Amino acid sequence: MALNDAAKLLAQARHVVVFTGAGISAESGVPTFRDALTGLWSRFDAQALATPQAFQEDPDLVWGWYEWRRQLVQRVRPNQGHLAVARLATHVPQLTVITQNVDDLHERAGSESPVHLHGSLFSPRCATCSRPAPLPAGDEQPEEGRRVPPPHCAHCAGLIRPGVVWFGEQLPEAALESAARAASECDVLLTIGTSGLVYPAAELPRLAARSGAAVIQVNPQPTPLDPIARVNLVGPAAEILPGLVSAAWS
Ligand code: OAD
Repeated sequence: MALNDAAKLLAQARHVVVFTGAGISAESGVPTFRDALTGLWSRFDAQALATPQAFQEDPDLVWGWYEWRRQLVQRVRPNQGHLAVARLATHVPQLTVITQNVDDLHERAGSESPVHLHGSLFSPRCATCSRPAPLPAGDEQPEEGRRVPPPHCAHCAGLIRPGVVWFGEQLPEAALESAARAASECDVLLTIGTSGLVYPAAELPRLAARSGAAVIQVNPQPTPLDPIARVNLVGPAAEILPGLVSAAWS
């Protein structure tokens, strides 16, 4: 049975990479991007909000949207899926957690220094001099779609921008390099809650499979990663992951 096959692969692995997308945070109440109806993109035009051009044209709209997302993340909690990933670290000799998510739910569940390929809502920086900037004080959540003027840099007075990767921007080099190295060296890559559509991040499970690793996928829906998955666990992460971890090390 698929869960036992996946548990056996995990229990025998020396180096496990966990690769997550928005789906692992869905059960915490954080909208994914592409899920119809609930996904962020079904309510917003990504190109109208998640690009350098959008920030240039309307910084208050873009900053307001990311502040809405950050405040939403601060109001929710890690779910059983994040907690199961954190528990993996106590069983697996070497664990690398790589996420496409910009929330801090892996960290709050206890995963140490996950690799953030697409940045973080919690690391704003100056759009001009790139210096890190403090998070705005206060925790009232702007309603969805309200414009909020971004703060200014204490050093150069430039506009502060969210510390996330926008469409058309490069991923942080060091993060991508360490993620690719881990994917090429691991024995098992556990991909959780990603549609596997956005490159270069989506290349990682394929790189792992090409390097001989067993890919285990956790997702309620089919994805382009199905053909490279050694085991496909079809269902929600918060339901599947706790059972997978206890089956591997019970
Ligand atoms: P998507 O919204 O593209 O895909 C979410 C995936 O999670 C889908 O495959 C869903 O089937 C799955 N899913 C939904 N609920 C789930 C649950 N409870 N448990 C497990 N899986 C579930 O999100 P990502 O794949 O993360 O990039 O998107 C990748 C990137 O595209 C994002 O990082 C973002 C976006 O543009 C940037 O912001 C640069």
